[in-house]
Order: sequence, then structure tokens, then C-alpha cells
Amino acid sequence: MRSIVMKVFVFGTLFTLVYSAANDLPSYFPKCKRYDPKLNECLVKATETVRPFLIKGVPELGIPPIEPYTIPEITLEQGTQALNFKALLKDVEVRGLGNYKFSQFDFDVPGLQWFCKATINPIKLVGDYTVTGKILLAPIEGSGKFTAGIENSNITAYQKVEFFKKKGVTYVRPVTTNTTISVGGPKVHLDGLFGGNEELNKVTNTVINDNVNELFEDLKPVIEKIITNVIEQWLFKGLEDNVPFDKLYPEK
Ligand SMILES: *[C@@H]1O[C@H](CO)[C@@H](O)[C@H](O)[C@H]1NC(C)=O
Ligand SMILES: *[C@@H]1O[C@H](CO)[C@@H](O)[C@H](O)[C@H]1NC(C)=O
Repeated sequence: MRSIVMKVFVFGTLFTLVYSAANDLPSYFPKCKRYDPKLNECLVKATETVRPFLIKGVPELGIPPIEPYTIPEITLEQGTQALNFKALLKDVEVRGLGNYKFSQFDFDVPGLQWFCKATINPIKLVGDYTVTGKILLAPIEGSGKFTAGIENSNITAYQKVEFFKKKGVTYVRPVTTNTTISVGGPKVHLDGLFGGNEELNKVTNTVINDNVNELFEDLKPVIEKIITNVIEQWLFKGLEDNVPFDKLYPEK
């Protein structure tokens, strides 16, 4: 086992809309009844119905558009034999999150936890980067634009929530949210390495892409953190924190 030292800071867009009154779900959101034996099927279908609204955002619930999803800043710090670098990514635009497809939803209502599986095909990231360090003993240094792409991905997400009361009304909030992702067909391209030296830029991008699977393996925690953030923002900020539990998952 090699040792990995990695620090990840992801600052997602923050939404601070505060509602004083309890909201209902927008009329175009499907309602899944909490004791319906087909609750899980209903939830998978609901993810399809709400797609166009999530893509554009749902202002009345403070849910941001997911196409594109913008992250102001990501800091990466890697210390392994193969990868030893510091990178700062700025204004990262994530495109393709709206291509999600859920295959499984498993909502354990009495346990207040849910698990789901989804794919997103494809995902593209573009933004500004600054990097210094080493990749496979070769120095890497520069700043400019980067693009990264994933052809397909498998995602699992888990969330445990708890009840809490606001003005006597019961809502839920997350206790833990975690996600896993496996990616297929990853690609990375950096422009502007070594002050724009074309030869070095080309060689380094070749080295990066020859080792892109390993690189993405190490970047996985970052991508997982991004997806966790998105889920917490949609589900917590948007739905759970605004819509009382009884209206989110009515009894009848
Ligand atoms: C999420 O965390 C819970 C509790 O910490 C754990 O049981 C579960 O396996 C994790 N699931 C995922 C998808 O990482
Ligand atoms: C995603 O899961 C499918 C079905 O299990 C599998 O065929 C595919 O290789 C997986 N892709 C990745 C990127 O893990």
C-alpha cells in the first residue's frame, strides 16, 4: 500500500434562501407516499419527472440549476510516489449532471435512510488550473485552462436523515451523506503547462493520459465530495429543509 496524503476542499455554491413559512412541493413534483409498497419505484420515476426542473433550477425551493454546476474553487494536494502535486482549480464548470439515470432507490422509511444507484454518462469538467509538483518523477508546472471528461460512471449514494422541528413542524435533515463513484473512459487535458512550451505541454499531457486511470483513482475522493455536495444541496437545502416531511412523503 502506498501512502496517500490528500486534502480536498470543495466549496460548492452556497444557497442561503430562508423561508419563514413551510413550503409544499411544487405542483409539478411527483408525490411519493411513504407507505406505498411501490415507494421505491415511485422515487425512481420521480427522478425522471423532475429532470427538466433540476436542469434549470427550482428557484421557489432555492435549488440551483445543475446544468452547468459551477464550483468556485477546488484545492488538491497529493503526496504519493507517483503523484506529488498541488493544484488549484477555479471556476470549474461541471457539465452533464443532468444526464443522470437512477436504476435503484431503496428508502427505508422507519430507519430514515435511503440508498440509490445511478449512472451519469458523460460528465465534462472545464475550468482554470494552477499546478506545481511531479507526476511519475517528471515535473509538472503551469497554469491555464483544463478540460476533463468521463465517458461513463456508476454512482451509489447513501443518506441517513433525522427529524427536527421548526416552528412545531417536522422536517428532516441529513446526519450522513456519502457517495461512491467508479469512472470509465477518463480523459484530461491541460493547456498552458510550462509557460506555454508546446513540446513539454504535449509530452506532459501524454504522460497524464497514459496514467489517467491511476490519476482518477486518486481524484475519486474529490469527485465523490462534489457529488455529495450536490446531493446535500438538492435534497437538504432544496427539499428537506423547505418542505415538511409530511408533504415530502405524505402518509396518504
Ligand atoms: C455510507 O456510510 C454508512 C454509515 O457510515 C455506511 O454504512 C455505508 O456503507 C456508506 N455507504 C456508502 C455508499 O459509502
Ligand atoms: C457500471 O456498471 C455496469 C453494470 O454493472 C458495468 O457494466 C460497467 O462496467 C460499470 N462502469 C464503470 C465505469 O464502473
